[in-house]
Amino acid sequence: VSLVVIVGNPRPASRTYTAATEAARAVAKAAGAGQDLDVIDLSELAPRLLHPEPSALVEDAVGLVTAADVILVASPTYKGTYTGLLKVFLDRLPSAALAGKVALPLLLLGAPQHALAVEVHLRPLLVELGATVPTPGLALLESQLDRLDSVVSEWAVQVAPVVRGALTGDVSSPR
Ligand SMILES: Cc1cc2nc3c(=O)[nH]c(=O)nc-3n(C[C@H](O)[C@H](O)[C@H](O)COP(=O)(O)O)c2cc1C
Repeated sequence: VSLVVIVGNPRPASRTYTAATEAARAVAKAAGAGQDLDVIDLSELAPRLLHPEPSALVEDAVGLVTAADVILVASPTYKGTYTGLLKVFLDRLPSAALAGKVALPLLLLGAPQHALAVEVHLRPLLVELGATVPTPGLALLESQLDRLDSVVSEWAVQVAPVVRGALTGDVSSPR
């Protein structure tokens, strides 16, 4: 059973990275699962993603995603959607690569009027890849970062029922 976090920020050590890993740990806790995470920070892969030569780093990251049970997909909000970097990475996945997996969308944003981008832009991308996507996605405002812990904990309780089965291998939990 594995939980993988994808951070789609072109900048390393971002607030999106912190928020995504905290949110993933909160979900694992709420679902009664272990706290082990694999984190794919796409800022490290960025120079290789569009390079014509094959990259073992990129292939390893694709392998982590395709082997995962639950994936938290996080991005800063750029131009009212997610980053191009995230799309370039997800375009590497085979079709229906997320079938049978639970994917949790998270967008960090500055402008409250873009909060629905997590539902109308990031969610359909994950559904297209075949994932089960619990409601709601997490639209995290920069102004909420000073109480990140309580915001992610509240959200984790909402999505935990769907995540629990995937993370603990309990097939009687809803998916
Ligand atoms: C190129 C670019 C485009 C952005 N577009 C939006 C946007 O459309 N809506 C929004 O709410 N924030 C937008 N932002 C702000 C970021 O989403 C916001 O600052 C986020 O917290 C950045 O995450 P980070 O600190 O992990 O880099 C944009 C930032 C950049 C650099």
